[in-house]
Order: sequence, then C-alpha cells, then structure tokens
Amino acid sequence: FTGQQLGNAILLLSITSPQHQPLNTRRWPSAERPNPETVLISESVDPRCRAILEENGIRVTEKTSMKKDELIAEIKDYDGLVVRSATKVTADVINAANNLKIIGRAGTGVDNVDVDAATKKGIIVMNTPSGNTISAAELTCALLMSLSRNVPQAAMSMKQGNWDRKKFMGAELFGKVLGIVGLGRIGKEVASRMQSFGMKTIGYDPITPPEVSASWGVEQMSLEQLWPQCDYITVHTPLMPSTVGLLNDETFAKCKKGVKVVNCARGGIIDEAALLRALESGQCGGAGLDVFVEEPPKDRSLVDHPNVISCPHLGASTKEAQARCGEDIALQIVDMVKGKKLVGAVNAQVLASTFSQESHQLIKLGEAVGAVLRSCSASKKPFSRVQIATKGKNYQFNQFVKAET
Ligand SMILES: NC(=O)c1ccc[n+]([C@@H]2O[C@H](COP(=O)([O-])OP(=O)(O)OC[C@H]3O[C@@H](n4cnc5c(N)ncnc54)[C@H](O)[C@@H]3O)[C@@H](O)[C@H]2O)c1
Repeated sequence: FTGQQLGNAILLLSITSPQHQPLNTRRWPSAERPNPETVLISESVDPRCRAILEENGIRVTEKTSMKKDELIAEIKDYDGLVVRSATKVTADVINAANNLKIIGRAGTGVDNVDVDAATKKGIIVMNTPSGNTISAAELTCALLMSLSRNVPQAAMSMKQGNWDRKKFMGAELFGKVLGIVGLGRIGKEVASRMQSFGMKTIGYDPITPPEVSASWGVEQMSLEQLWPQCDYITVHTPLMPSTVGLLNDETFAKCKKGVKVVNCARGGIIDEAALLRALESGQCGGAGLDVFVEEPPKDRSLVDHPNVISCPHLGASTKEAQARCGEDIALQIVDMVKGKKLVGAVNAQVLASTFSQESHQLIKLGEAVGAVLRSCSASKKPFSRVQIATKGKNYQFNQFVKAET
C-alpha cells in the first residue's frame, strides 16, 4: 500500500479451524496422494525393491553411477526417485525435476537429500529407519570388543609376521560401565547385546523416558553424571546442532582417564580434533570410528592413530540390512500409493500442515486479500486504508492477518 492513496474499505473474512490431524493417521484422499507411476533407482538397491514396485504397476528404471549433471538431465520426467547414500539429491536436482513426488532413501539418514528443498516443492522424503538397526548395532558391538582386545591391531601384526603377545594385552568388558548417548533403536540393541557381556549400561536421551530405558536395563542420568562413570562411551544420536561435538575437549576432560569411545552414528558427534587431542594425551584410550565428518576423510590423523580402529562407514553394509532397506522403501511407497499408511516420511508433518485444510484456508485468504487489493488499487478513487478482520476460533489466524496487514 505504501505510497498509494487508498480510501476506506472493510473486508470481513470468516475462517473456521478444523482439528489438526497428523498425516500418518488419516487416510489420504486419493486425489491428493502422490501417485508415482515412474521411479528412477539411482544406486545399487536390493533387487526386491524393483520387483515390488513393478508388481504394483510402477515403471522402474535403474541407472547407477550418474554424475550430478546426468542426474539433473535424467530426473526431469520421473515421479519417484530411490537412492541410498551416494546420490546427492541437492536443491539443483530437486528443482530440475518436473514431476517428482517422492524421494525414497533406502536407509536411515537423509543427510544426502535436501529435505527443505523437497518440502518446498511438496515432495515427500521417506527413509527406512529400522532396516539397518541390527547391522549398525552389531558393528558397534564389534568395535567395542575390538577396542577391549586390540583384535584388528593384533591381526595386522600377525600378517606382518610378528608374534607380539605383550603389546596387545587387553581388558575384559565384564563389569565395565558402558555409557550410551542416544537411546533410540540402535542404542537399545547395543545395550541388550553388551549387557550379555556383563557390562553395566547407563545412558542419556532427552526423549526416551527413563522408565522405558530402565525396562531394557539402561539407567538414565544427565550427561554431567554420565561422563565420569564410563569406561566406554558409544553415541547413537542423529547429527543435529544439539549433538554436534557432544564429546569435545570439555566433556572429554570430565571422563575417566583412558575412556574408550565409539562413533557408529554420524561423523562430528564426537569432535574429531578434540578426539585426536584426547588420544594423544591419553585421556582417551581408544576410539572405534565408522563415520567421519568428511567421508572418505582427507585428514588421516585419526585413521592412522595406533589406538583408533576405523571402518569406511560399514554400519549398514550387510546383505540383510540392504535387503531389508530395499524391500522396506518399495513397500512404503506402495502403501502410500494405495493410501494404506504413510511410514518413514521425514517431512510428513511439514507437508501435512502445508496441505492441510487450515493452510488451504490461509491460502484462500491470501488469494481473497490479493483480489481485494487488486480491485482497490485499480479503483479510480483509491482507498486510503484497508482494514481486514478475520472471524474464527483460531487465534493464530488473526495474528497472521494482523502481522501481514
Ligand atoms: N554407521 C551406519 O552406517 C549407520 C547405520 C544406521 C544408522 N546410523 C546412525 O545411527 C544414529 C542412530 O540411529 P537410530 O536408528 O538409533 O535413530 P533413532 O532415531 O531411533 O534414535 C536416536 C535417538 O537419539 C536421541 N537423541 C536426540 N538428541 C539427543 C541428544 N542431544 N542426546 C542424546 N540423545 C539424543 C533421540 O531421542 C533418539 O532416541 C543416527 O545418527 C543414524 O543416522 C548409522
């Protein structure tokens, strides 16, 4: 309105506010449901994935090892894209896709997908959160055991022709304290396995209730209480601002001298520079790392450290996990198409609110306001002031309109 001479107009809009219903608990009207007819699989995914999609009438193209430009050119006409972790589904790729309705990640983390860009385009991003839980938990346990008995170092030494029994003196896990930070799917499985070795399991999780973790043998406490008690610490949180550098110089200093740590979750949850300093000072007695901030890591200081056992991100690399994830993502897509259920959609809540009845009404309101303004400014005798009042129970709508006017 600035700079315009407007007269007076009063617009009264009435808005009702239906109860909010989460997307995954209601049946989606088929007209609104994404209905992919063509799916591009851009990585080597278990063959069951293709078979299930095709059995359900979806045309599938498998094209692997594409460079970014090739993917941008290829993605244009597909309705669905299935990836593992190597395909970088950046905003450029998403914006190049004219029909894309769903991005399925056969695996857990969606770090390789620009979820915000997808959400802005109304594209569902789906993962298979539990397909690789057991595999990641088992690798964590393997690293804990390797740290206690120096298995990889001893094996390397044997291959070099040595017979060095003193150098690889270990320590039992029995009776030791394992701190588990992040008590979700994998944290829980690690706990039960390591309890069978006689470890005492303690942990911290801001969401999992203490009585729930207590039922599977993990006593919860604050991190301040946890750090000084642990002989071993393993992290199983997502990587997000609140978990970046959970173990850092300050928190390592609070730990027992010689504490051993495992990161089989995401690179950066244990601060890499702080870990190296702690290993060099002996504050940390050893680290098992499956993940790195940069993969593969260009800086090899951690990998080369004698007390570090590392793997090239192998947590989900088992035949069983890959089969489960390939099958799960296909079944989830089919269930969504059939309107049975929506499982594993990481941006479902955002999309639900974007496409909800409430938002439709706000969109209608926006259109109505736009139409009024157009006629106001087109009028021969322009208004000096336009007042918009909204009617309806939802206070936020009134706030919204006030803020915008
Ligand atoms: N190495 C691999 O190949 C591999 C394979 C699978 C999963 N992962 C990773 O393992 C991690 C755990 O996976 P999951 O399936 O158990 O996830 P999950 O969502 O089931 O559990 C994560 C838990 O972390 C908790 N959490 C969040 N913020 C926290 C914080 N600040 N402190 C402590 N706990 C916090 C959550 O409440 C949740 O209970 C993820 O980062 C995932 O990407 C790695």
